[in-house]
Amino acid sequence: MITIALAKGRLADKALDLLEQMGIDCEEVRKDTRKLIFTARDGSVRFIMVKPSDVPAYVEYGTADIGIAGKDTLLEEGRPLYEMLDLKFGKCRLAVAGFENMNESSISNSIIRVATKYPNIARKFFADRGQSVEIIRLNGSVELGPLTGLSDVIVDIVESGRTLKENGLVVLEEICPVSARLVVNQVSLKTKHDEIRRIIDSLKRLVEGKNDDSDN
Ligand code: PRP
Repeated sequence: MITIALAKGRLADKALDLLEQMGIDCEEVRKDTRKLIFTARDGSVRFIMVKPSDVPAYVEYGTADIGIAGKDTLLEEGRPLYEMLDLKFGKCRLAVAGFENMNESSISNSIIRVATKYPNIARKFFADRGQSVEIIRLNGSVELGPLTGLSDVIVDIVESGRTLKENGLVVLEEICPVSARLVVNQVSLKTKHDEIRRIIDSLKRLVEGKNDDSDN
């Protein structure tokens, strides 16, 4: 049996769509329930529904053989996993955002405060450019940082751009593009090689059969 850790929330539906298209029975998982573990009717796959930021931990420790998580989460967690496939949905970008007048000249030469759910990504991004920062870790609604004066800028994901726009903020700098990725436990890839390879190959065919620019 293969155990798959699925990120609850914005990636879950699209991940289930793909798994269903490759013939994995996800009916039970789609039900409106508080259950966290599901087994497909034929017993071939078990799903565990985890918080997005916890997917890498479950896969690293082998509790799950496979995980589906956003590249943002993988970068932030930095765990030793095999990233096997770009699933090409959940597309967004990681960016530095703030008020429009917060341009580069006004932020250099001083320590800037950065509010973010991604402290590791933010620390590395600014360290690479020699900018001193104070990171303030928040768990959500990070746009409030500049709005309330808690921080100068934020590092966050931007999808449609609506949240920034409606709060009078703009992207100041892009960090990297983000999409959902399939990750595999390093030991499972050896011990369950054939089953995992089959899943990866069918997902790859499905993903490559779709237009890259199709909806995220
Ligand atoms: C995410 C992110 C932004 C928003 C971006 O927050 O942190 O706030 O979505 O999406 P948009 O560009 O389409 O507006 P999420 O909805 O996950 O909620 P949170 O702020 O509570 O983490």
